[in-house]
Parts: sequence; C-alpha cells; structure tokens
Amino acid sequence: MLMNSNSNHLNISRRVARIFLLSVLLGISNVGLAEPVDSDALLRTIPESFKSAASQYSLMLDGCKGDPKIPRSYEGGQLKMVAPKDWTSGFFAGSLWYLYEFTHDPKWQAAAVDYTARLESIKDYQGSHDVGFILGCSFGNGYRLTKNPAYLEIMNQGAESLTTRFNPNVGLLRSWDHGKWNYPVIIDNMMNLEFLIDVSKQAGKSRYREIAFSHADKTTKNHFRDDSSSFHVVDYDPVTGEVLAKKTHQGAADGSSWARGQAWALYGYTMMFRETGNPVYLSQATKVADFILNHPRLPADKIPYWDFDAAAIPDVPRDASAAAVMSSALIELSTKTTGKASSQYLALAQQQLISLSSPNYTAKVDENGNFILMHSVGNMPANSEVNVPINYADYYYLEALLRYRRLKETL
Ligand code: GLY
Repeated sequence: MLMNSNSNHLNISRRVARIFLLSVLLGISNVGLAEPVDSDALLRTIPESFKSAASQYSLMLDGCKGDPKIPRSYEGGQLKMVAPKDWTSGFFAGSLWYLYEFTHDPKWQAAAVDYTARLESIKDYQGSHDVGFILGCSFGNGYRLTKNPAYLEIMNQGAESLTTRFNPNVGLLRSWDHGKWNYPVIIDNMMNLEFLIDVSKQAGKSRYREIAFSHADKTTKNHFRDDSSSFHVVDYDPVTGEVLAKKTHQGAADGSSWARGQAWALYGYTMMFRETGNPVYLSQATKVADFILNHPRLPADKIPYWDFDAAAIPDVPRDASAAAVMSSALIELSTKTTGKASSQYLALAQQQLISLSSPNYTAKVDENGNFILMHSVGNMPANSEVNVPINYADYYYLEALLRYRRLKETL
C-alpha cells in the first residue's frame, strides 16, 4: 500500500514491479486496456482465492463465537464489531452466502443463516437509506439461494421501511438524518435501489420500482459533473425539491472524485440498466466507466487511490474496496456493451481482480484480522479506517469472482 514515507515508496515500487511481472505472466500489458487478457489464467486462480477466503472466514467465525455483533473492519490491531444498524452490517452475511454459493458446503449456509438472522430487526428501521445494503446483501442473497419465504417477508417489510424515506416533493430517497444537511442524497444511495427493485419483482409491489426509477432519474440529472464524475452529496430543499448544494463528506474536496463514490455510481447505473433496459442508465454507466478507465491518475495495477484528486498522489493510500465494487460492476457492464467498449471494461475488471488476488492486496491466512483483502479506506477526512481491511471490500471482491466465473461459463 502507498503511504507517506520513502521506505514505503520503495515497497510500493517493488509491489508495482511484482504486479507487472504477474501481469506479464498472465499475458496482460499495462498499456492498452483493450489488450487481450489470458482470462483462463485468472479463472484458474478463482478456486485458490475462494480457498484462502474460506480459511480466513473460518478463523473469523471461530474468533467471533459468542459475540452477537458483526465484524466490520480491523484497525490498530482491534477487530471492529458492529450492531445491525451500522451500514456495513449486511456484508459479512453476504460474503458467507457467496462462500456457500461457491462451495455448496452446508457449513457456510449455516453461518450465513446465523449472520442473516441477526439483522431481522432492520426490517423496521426507517433511520437510513442503508436498509437496502443491509437487507439486500444478507436476506436478498439468502432468498436468491434458498427461496426461504420468511426471508421475502422480511425483505418486504424492509422495503416498506426504506420507502418511508421517499419525499415526492424531492423525488429521491433521503440518505441521512444526521449532519448539517437539509435533505442529503449521496451517490452511494444508488446501491439501495437494487433491493427495492428486487422486492418489487418478488412481491409484485410496483410502487417500489417507481420510487427507484424516480431516484435514479433525479440522480442522473443532479449528481454528475461535465466530465461524468460524481459528486458525493447533493443537498436538496425538502419543500421545493431544488438543489441547495453539491458537497462531499468522504472525499478530498467538494469538487473531487472520491473513488468509492465513482464505484457506487458505476455499479448503481449498470444495475439500473440491467433491471430496466433504459438506455439513459446505460449511458450514465458507460460515462462513469470511461471516466475511471481513462483517468490519468488510475495507477498501473488499476486499484484507485482513495480519491482521484487526493493532493499527495502517488503517496496516498489506495482503496481496494473501490476496486472491488468497480470490478464487479465492470464485469456486468461488459455484458451490456459491445465491441471495444465491452473488451475494455472486461480487461479493466480482469486487471483489478488480478491485482486484488495478488499478495499485494490479499492477506496471508491468519493475518489481517481474518479479512480477505487489505488496503481499503473508509473515511479519510475523519481519519477513520484508513488503509485497513473492511467487510464490503471482501463482499464485492467475492461477488466479482463469482460474476467472472459465471461469465466465463456462459461463453
Ligand atoms: N456508503 C458509505 C461508504 O461508502 O463509505
């Protein structure tokens, strides 16, 4: 990982050199993203990556036995455990579902059922937009894999709670109730629409879909700059629905491109196009993808700095979580596009997954607090979770590996 010292700078150079060597071995060129990648080589590493993930999460489960909370991150040698209302509470259960999906081992199903059940109270939680993240990753994956009708009932109630945050004057779901804002909407909120659409399909509630479309449409209108990068927070007037301010909360500056924010936008619009076929959403997804792909400060290993405009680049931390979200989204986007664009999106996802699966980002078993990936950034301005493992990086990484395997199986 990159930090502010000369010795770290040397380590970084060695790591970049190792990635370059790995890329050469896999037939990838660091210049020219449209270069063909030896995709079979990446495919062959997936069982090994899941094996290492399973070893880490087995140790994690053992270490957390008896604690009702949920592992979120590992900072300063301490495991950070959170309650269901924390926005990240659904990712650990989600990763357990992905381990079950890959291995079919009932051990993972039992663990996933346990960590999913811990989140049931969120079905009645109206205090944040994150209900979609929390219940979608846990109950949503659980329902997809087991069709347990009790899960659908909980998801239904959760969607009802989430939609209490929709104000028709504004046409958007309100993200937060805290802070100095009037009616804050963050780009991350695009990710909660998948949950609403999913429940709408399963339970036949068209209102949830309509709310999701309204949210996405208004976000398209107000959240993006001329270069197609996304602001983090747009604050609205709750009575008139007018935009009051465009700001950041977790980025380097109001006008900067916070890496995970770009990742949420890319993923959110790719998902919206999958669910609707609306070309406006595809166009937004490809514009964000192109912004990332062509960015002069996207490093050679394709794992972004925590903010594309961070002042001290290259001596600032990377954000593996942003890369994990991006790679998962890009695999899907490559299937919705054709020609050079499609190959470029897939090549970028492949390069990100190769980097994330390398020892530069994947921890050794029994290290890293038993999380899979190292080097994510939670909230740099608050100096919180900087260059640490975080559960959502692991979740989207496993998802991307599963998506990649599925893509290759269907070719
Ligand atoms: N949704 C909060 C974050 O990405 O940090």
